[in-house]
Amino acid sequence: MAQASAISTSIRKGIAMNDVAPLGDTLLAADQRHLIHPLHHPKEHTNAHIFVEGRGAMLRTADGKEYIDGLSALWNVNVGHGRKELADAAAKQMEKLAYASAYAGFSNEPAIRLAEKLVGIAYDNIAGVYFTTGGAESNESAFKFARYYWKRMGKPDKVKIISRIYGYHGVTMAAMSATSLPGYAKMFGPLVPNFHQVAPPYAYRWPGNGDAGIGAADAVEEMIQAQGADNVAAVIAEPVMGAGGVIVPPPTYFPRLREICDRHNVLLIADEVITGFGRTGRWFALGHWGVQPDLMSFAKGVTSGYLPLGGVMVSKRIHQAIEDAPMTERFMHAATYSGHPACCAVGLANVELIEREGLVERAAVMGKRLLAGLEQLRSLPVVGDVRGLGMLAAVELVEDQGSRKPAAGLGAKVVAQAMQRGLIMRQRGASDGPPASGDSLCLAPPLMTPEATLDRIVQIVGESIEAACR
Ligand SMILES: Cc1ncc(COP(=O)(O)O)c(C=O)c1O
Repeated sequence: MAQASAISTSIRKGIAMNDVAPLGDTLLAADQRHLIHPLHHPKEHTNAHIFVEGRGAMLRTADGKEYIDGLSALWNVNVGHGRKELADAAAKQMEKLAYASAYAGFSNEPAIRLAEKLVGIAYDNIAGVYFTTGGAESNESAFKFARYYWKRMGKPDKVKIISRIYGYHGVTMAAMSATSLPGYAKMFGPLVPNFHQVAPPYAYRWPGNGDAGIGAADAVEEMIQAQGADNVAAVIAEPVMGAGGVIVPPPTYFPRLREICDRHNVLLIADEVITGFGRTGRWFALGHWGVQPDLMSFAKGVTSGYLPLGGVMVSKRIHQAIEDAPMTERFMHAATYSGHPACCAVGLANVELIEREGLVERAAVMGKRLLAGLEQLRSLPVVGDVRGLGMLAAVELVEDQGSRKPAAGLGAKVVAQAMQRGLIMRQRGASDGPPASGDSLCLAPPLMTPEATLDRIVQIVGESIEAACR
């Protein structure tokens, strides 16, 4: 692979000359002593991979090993690693104005320009943008936007949020309360009240022969009715569930959900933290089904991870509610880094880069290639389901294809085998549900990943499944 050999050259010239192994050892010891990681457990840091360099779809660790980044780091490095344009945009803005307040009465050029750009590429009904520093904060903000809107509309009791089982919305208190994946809340309860979960549109695991799209949308309606529409502020949904195992909804789901939300006067929040910025082969994913949200959370791909940034885009009517508010009902939501000039400058450069290189269109085409490759793996008896949209895909493992019984534990073995073969991917562990689910191998390579690297990903996934089964 051209990228792999380019990175090898830089290793030979650079850090490898610098005595890589001791560097890795020293860093690892300090890591174990002091650094608390997301989802921390010391057992997973006895031999952690310390990344030191990235180029395109490749990552290199302190011990000189190279890996294909099959998950764009954390589903976020959409344009690939090592893009000088983005480093330059950050440096230029930091030299000029690294930070200034964007609180009411103050503003800055990168935040203004990025907001204008985002409104231009988002759904037609989007009119306003509020910036955050990441996905969880975006969802926290979206919940507050929803409550704020209904209070402005004279409906202060509309506060409840409906989300879906296997949804992931981040780990701050309210986002964690909307999240419904095993483990995240166990040690941090109690959850914030007024969050309610319903069945996801999980076609492979949908009981009976009915349409999972219709059934799962109707489950939202039942929950709205059970809670009382006058108490429900919003439904939050990832267009394609990411961390829950890349669950792609049937085409019937979102049109029906939109119609239900409208009928009951409930807002629809699209959590596009993973699906935004070209990941699914469109700028934003609800466009696949001709649906527009009232609020859209974004993060990750807005800067391709080069600096932390997220936000909420809001529809015209919500924007209007903020614009028309009397002083006594002003939008008292804020954060020091909302509209951070350097982060927004990188966001703008990143969006322009995605546009210039046609990465949204590329994700659609290359995603089909990736999915077609993964489909071939259905010949392996433990491959139960293969699904994806754009550069977002999953292979769900089962004990056998007939029973669809979850193959618990197999996914972790496959991920370890893939790592040995130079591919980083992630698995979502099996769950007893309901609905039950198998281990799902998740893939989300950078949108620019070369064809040969995509084919190699498929090859490694196949070989790793076979090796793990032996
Ligand atoms: C759909 C979705 N929403 C929200 C989040 C939380 O984002 P962050 O980790 O930036 O807080 C994530 C993170 O993976 C996500 O996938």
